[in-house]
Amino acid sequence: MNTLNHFDTPQLELLHRGKVRDSFRAPSGERLIVVTDRLSAFDSVLETPVAHKGAVLNGLAAFWFDKTRHIIPNHVISLPDPNVTLAKEAEPIRVEMVVRHYLTGSMWRGYQQGQRTFSGVTVPDGLTKHQQFPAPIVTPTTKEESDREITPENLVAEGWVSRELYEQMRVKALELFNFASQWMAERGIILVDTKYEFGLLDGELMLIDEIHTPDSSRFWSAEDYARNPETAEQMDKEYVRQWLIAHKQDGQYPRALTPEVSAEATRRYLNIYERITGSPLLTGNEITPDGDVQARLVSNLVRAGIMKETI
Ligand SMILES: Nc1ncnc2c1ncn2[C@@H]1O[C@H](COP(=O)(O)OP(=O)(O)OP(=O)(O)O)[C@@H](O)[C@H]1O
Ligand SMILES: [Mg+2]
Repeated sequence: MNTLNHFDTPQLELLHRGKVRDSFRAPSGERLIVVTDRLSAFDSVLETPVAHKGAVLNGLAAFWFDKTRHIIPNHVISLPDPNVTLAKEAEPIRVEMVVRHYLTGSMWRGYQQGQRTFSGVTVPDGLTKHQQFPAPIVTPTTKEESDREITPENLVAEGWVSRELYEQMRVKALELFNFASQWMAERGIILVDTKYEFGLLDGELMLIDEIHTPDSSRFWSAEDYARNPETAEQMDKEYVRQWLIAHKQDGQYPRALTPEVSAEATRRYLNIYERITGSPLLTGNEITPDGDVQARLVSNLVRAGIMKETI
């Protein structure tokens, strides 16, 4: 298979199967994050994997973790395979640090209904869809069954995080956001919003999970935004979403994509990777012998001493 929809092996304990990533316990006790080619849209995972999406997301996160080391340490130990990150296990802080620079998404929906204060941040009347804020704002949520907007004061009062740690997270989140915004702006991409997760290891704050990927962030093309801010679309997924909307039947979105739509989605992910990192994602036979991603992954994990032999 030239895609990775699902990874399972009796050799590794499954820690968590998310919508897109499957996380395991490596024999060393570390966390093995397998980023699959699953794509979720409208809150459900499509049956059709999108080739190279997992490697694009894993590669972009690795790129950013590396580029932002001077701002904050992170959980990455190594990338034993293009779809896999071996990470230090941290004590996760159950807070999503959402940073927004534009009025869109759930915030825009709330704004239209009259909401003006978001996680303790008050914005003025009269803003328009997709308008830029004077500076990025931090609107944290708790990590629960469904994420909850919460003020920093209540995060502390409810015991999610101490005041000192929250302040460190806030400063780091804004520093990360400003750094990446500038990098992307120079490449014609707007970092609209994103979320960061932090953890503690030996008492030290570090960045965990993923960073500045299309699954944790919104990207708009600057060109698209300049043409008409209100119709700016997410560079990665909007194309698939629009196709799903156009092919809705009896109130249901299709559960699978056609090969053409899936191939176009792949093209878009590869393009984002190349625009941001400056190099194309390597996808040829030398990376994936026989085009079989799962076989490549297993042999890379064996080589890294994480698995013993083929499943
Ligand atoms: N280095 C780490 N140490 C400890 N926990 C981590 C680390 N990196 C990520 N995590 C946690 O692992 C979990 C990864 O979950 P994942 O993102 O795959 O699925 P999810 O968040 O449950 O659902 P969704 O697919 O909707 O995002 C998150 O709860 C994240 O906080
Ligand atoms: Mg997640």
